[in-house]
Amino acid sequence: MPKDTLTVKDNRTGKEYEIPIWENTIKALDLRQIKVTDDDFGMMSYDPAFTNTASTKSAITYLDGERGVLRYRGYPIEQLAEKSDYLEVAYLILFGELPTKEQFESWRYDITHHTIMHENIKDFIHAFRYDAHPMGMFISTVAALSTFYPEAPNIHDPNNRLIQIQRLIAKVPTIAAFSYRHSRGLPYMYPDNDLSYTGNFLNMMFKMTELKYEPNPALERALDVLFILHADHEQNCGTNAMRSIGSSHVDPYSAMAGAAAGLYGPLHGGANEAVLRMLRAIGSVENIPDFIQSVKNGDRRLMGFGHRVYKNYDPRASIIKKTAEEVFEVTGRNPLLDIALELEKIALNEDYFIERKLYPNVDFYSGIIYEAMGLPATMFPVLFAIPRTVGWLAQWQEMLGDSEQKIARPRQVYIGPEKRDYVAITKR
Ligand code: CMC
Repeated sequence: MPKDTLTVKDNRTGKEYEIPIWENTIKALDLRQIKVTDDDFGMMSYDPAFTNTASTKSAITYLDGERGVLRYRGYPIEQLAEKSDYLEVAYLILFGELPTKEQFESWRYDITHHTIMHENIKDFIHAFRYDAHPMGMFISTVAALSTFYPEAPNIHDPNNRLIQIQRLIAKVPTIAAFSYRHSRGLPYMYPDNDLSYTGNFLNMMFKMTELKYEPNPALERALDVLFILHADHEQNCGTNAMRSIGSSHVDPYSAMAGAAAGLYGPLHGGANEAVLRMLRAIGSVENIPDFIQSVKNGDRRLMGFGHRVYKNYDPRASIIKKTAEEVFEVTGRNPLLDIALELEKIALNEDYFIERKLYPNVDFYSGIIYEAMGLPATMFPVLFAIPRTVGWLAQWQEMLGDSEQKIARPRQVYIGPEKRDYVAITKR
């Protein structure tokens, strides 16, 4: 009779242990009973970069990297990108179900009516250098928001938590747009409550002297789709930072600043900026073979390719490729697309990429679309952080409500020197 257990034999002692299996997973703490002597600490598992360790249970996002599947709360990403909009998806991710019409109207009202920031935030952003990176400004301003809401540390009160969540989702586009306008020396534009979430963001980014900004519906929709695709992606670097920092029970603004900092790196949310720089450096289709050769030699990475979890085409990349065509009908074709398409074609036929299961990820095409929409490369990680805000907050709430979670505190395997005595500086 098969049993849901794992039998482990310790060949140092000859002892056998039976460890329960749950969801094809064993608990690392069940290894602790494995000891050579009674005063041993017990066995640990070693997993740098968490490549095979589940740090949590989660009911938010399902991802099957081998088959290229992504679902939020059970709904396939393809259906959400086609039929839903970002604010509805944000509600779904946060509350677990699609909203009724009334729930959605009230949710949209609450988000729309929290978009304005305290005027001091303007002064704060204004104090950055003229050429400060918008993501640096974004991270710092999110952290600074905690000082405006002294009640925010009261994270165990669900009503208080919800207000901070609404504030964050509502204000991140405003922070992002103000950071951009500061870096351009342009006056800050206030939110327009008549517009959609993405329409208002475009308004705050691009409105000049016209009395009313009217977003192009195709671009507004394309941005909305990109926001849906970036809303959550289970336990990645930024989300893990959100959960880890949040596990100390700090306020959500401080935790989210840490998550956004994780996202900023070129191996994570900074990748689309890196893709664009790479495509520009390649310059033309004829230079692709040399470039691919240098990747195969290990001199550089093909940015926008590869993923820790996807070992197949990233489903978000397929949707983005379609969105790109819709955007280019309005903006004209971005010439970098031809380089990207050819690069993808060549790479997908090269043994180096096939053997390592390296396929285009979400960032391979997103930068090209953003650029065509007039959004500069330095804004790309910020454009990732705006929609990911809801994912971070949903994961943070889930962590707070999970009775198995405690302050995150990994173990280490110490490999430093044994005890030794201090030597005076004159004797070294
Ligand atoms: N170009 C060339 N080689 C690569 C690439 C790449 N983009 N990605 C991985 N490899 C190679 C790597 O050199 C290694 O080869 P070998 O076994 O010969 O040493 C093998 O593939 C496995 O790579 P890894 O670094 O162990 O894989 P990882 O799971 O730690 O890294 C990754 C995942 C996303 C950091 C990596 O694929 C990468 O650096 N990609 C480029 C950056 C990028 O596009 N990031 C965006 C990720 S999607 C958006 C997000 O969620 O943040």
